[in-house]
Amino acid sequence: MAKVVVTRQLPAGPLDLLTDAGHEVLVRESTQPPSSTELQALVADADGLLCTLTERIDGALLNAAPRLRAIAVFAVGTDNVDLEATGARGIPVGNTPDVLTDATADLAMALLLATARRLPEAAANVTTGEWTTWEPLGFLGLELRGARLCVVGAGRIGRATGERAAAFGMQVDYVGRGDDLHAALARADVVSLHAPLTDQTHHLIDAAALAATKRGAILVNTSRGGLVDQVALAEALRSGHLAAAGLDVTDPEPLPATDPLLTAPNLLVLPHIGSATHAARERMAERAARNLLAGLAGEPMPWPVTASRAP
Ligand code: DGY
Repeated sequence: MAKVVVTRQLPAGPLDLLTDAGHEVLVRESTQPPSSTELQALVADADGLLCTLTERIDGALLNAAPRLRAIAVFAVGTDNVDLEATGARGIPVGNTPDVLTDATADLAMALLLATARRLPEAAANVTTGEWTTWEPLGFLGLELRGARLCVVGAGRIGRATGERAAAFGMQVDYVGRGDDLHAALARADVVSLHAPLTDQTHHLIDAAALAATKRGAILVNTSRGGLVDQVALAEALRSGHLAAAGLDVTDPEPLPATDPLLTAPNLLVLPHIGSATHAARERMAERAARNLLAGLAGEPMPWPVTASRAP
């Protein structure tokens, strides 16, 4: 029997896979992430760890967990895990790809539609009582048919977003490693980010990239906040160079209420809900549990992550 620590409350059903296999499962009863000190105490006698993207898994945490032999991340992105450190200790790490692709692509499309058609601004106009009449020139936005979408990161979620956009009549360009990002940005009416956060993609969308975008373009980000230089983004929104931005992710999360980005115009920020559907979260929990089951049994995880294979 192994002891498994689950850092957050998850869809509970799939955790039965672990208890049915005879493992002791300790679910931390909180909706908030543990501090690093609390997490270190929790893993002191744990064999398995099921964590979310809000927990930093680094050398210090691993040093505090001498028995740890399997880590399952309840996410597809694993930038919160120091994979060199887990690899050096021979601890397998798994993630939950595929099952959140549709949910996240749907949300990217929702942000695209909301920003292209200025929904937050239009809805606020109604609820504040400012709306007085139908206006021929009121709230004009971008028509999707014929508009060009640049998908940065042509992985599963990027492609699923591109398919949705194509169904709306958009022309879709995919940009991957080695492609000319700035040239693609210059052609796009909408840019949607789907690359993992790595040293190479940190601040990929910086002041120079934003300057390369077409005036009046829209930025959508459902990947990781660290891909965007938020100071440069705020400036691009304030100057009107970007027409709007729709962000499901920021750096940090949440942004402090005083962060200047939050006062930029034409900005829609969501609380990282890309995978937040009942179906996706249930399946993510099942994949995480299956990864742990395999790791604890000394078998290859069904959805492994390695330092050289970021999602
Ligand atoms: C992920 O899985 O990486 C998402 O950001 C959260 O589900």
